[in-house]
Amino acid sequence: MDNILEVRNLRTYYHTRTRTVPAVDGVDFTLKPKEILGLVGESGCGKTTVARSVVGLINRRNTKIESGEILFKGQELNGMDSHRLCGIRGKGISMIFQDPFVSLSPVYTVFSQIYEVMKAHDPEITKAQARGRIIELLQNVGIPSPELRLDDYPFQLSGGMQQRVMIAIALANNPDILIADEPTTALDVTVQAQVLDLLLQLRDRYEMAMILISHNLAVVASICDRVCVMYGGVVVEEASVYDIFDHPMHPYTKGLMASIPSISGDRKEELFSIKGNVEVIEPPVTCCRFCKRCERATEECRLSEPPLVEVGPGHKVRCFNRDRED
Ligand SMILES: Nc1ncnc2c1ncn2[C@@H]1O[C@H](COP(=O)(O)OP(=O)(O)OP(=O)(O)O)[C@@H](O)[C@H]1O
Ligand SMILES: [Mg+2]
Repeated sequence: MDNILEVRNLRTYYHTRTRTVPAVDGVDFTLKPKEILGLVGESGCGKTTVARSVVGLINRRNTKIESGEILFKGQELNGMDSHRLCGIRGKGISMIFQDPFVSLSPVYTVFSQIYEVMKAHDPEITKAQARGRIIELLQNVGIPSPELRLDDYPFQLSGGMQQRVMIAIALANNPDILIADEPTTALDVTVQAQVLDLLLQLRDRYEMAMILISHNLAVVASICDRVCVMYGGVVVEEASVYDIFDHPMHPYTKGLMASIPSISGDRKEELFSIKGNVEVIEPPVTCCRFCKRCERATEECRLSEPPLVEVGPGHKVRCFNRDRED
């Protein structure tokens, strides 16, 4: 089936007073209808910047999409005028932000916040008409007794309930694509599992595609069909969730995998971590972005950037030494 979203060679840079940060520096990926794509990588590798670029929620004063195509159902979003983009945002592509405590307004009730979003795409809708739809929406995201919670303020809800309200807001206009940016990071593990399960159910109920952003491979494994691993503003490995877990090829993906603690392992052994930090390299890039932290790095890696190469059906890797056994 045709892709509902195609992102090609996306470059988004932040221009601060002192320097330019090439947060996203040539990212390609596609999304099929009803597919769940995971975007993983350490803090600072550019995941949120990719998501914000796709929905056009960037601060144009200091952030610029330097190049690239963002095709939603074949329409180019990069460069689209803000009025038309507003028509797509929320209805075509909707986003759940990283932190519900910051994203919900403390001074409006749950009803008002969802009604506002519905009205943006359906200006004629009255409060009475919206009420029934909002109750159903809250029910679908697993809020008990929604008719009683409708007039609550966010501070009257638990963290998990607030995240469910955020999801309800994102679903209010029945989007084709839902982008969930770390939707479970602020939640404890039990609620995290419930929210992930909910997202999976909602994908089927609303027949939407999803991009799930997380730094946690275990979260991604539980619901995604395909995964893009990002490092330093680029995709370093892309594969089905099975290949990523069974045959990871990039040393960074392997490192992420080895960092997942095991309950059966030796408790006295030190937990594995990838040494060093994500480094944003200013263009032109003349080395592998991961080479300083990579135990496999050779002279070739320090002299040029490896391309993203297809190594099997749907499996792409950006590494010169991808076939070397460790
Ligand atoms: N407004 C900004 N101005 C300047 N630099 C920024 C800005 N926002 C993000 N950055 C930088 O861009 C890079 C990518 O940031 P981004 O927030 O996209 O990463 P992320 O992968 O979402 O990280 P996290 O997992 O912590 O959310 C980082 O180096 C970050 O410091
Ligand atoms: Mg982020």
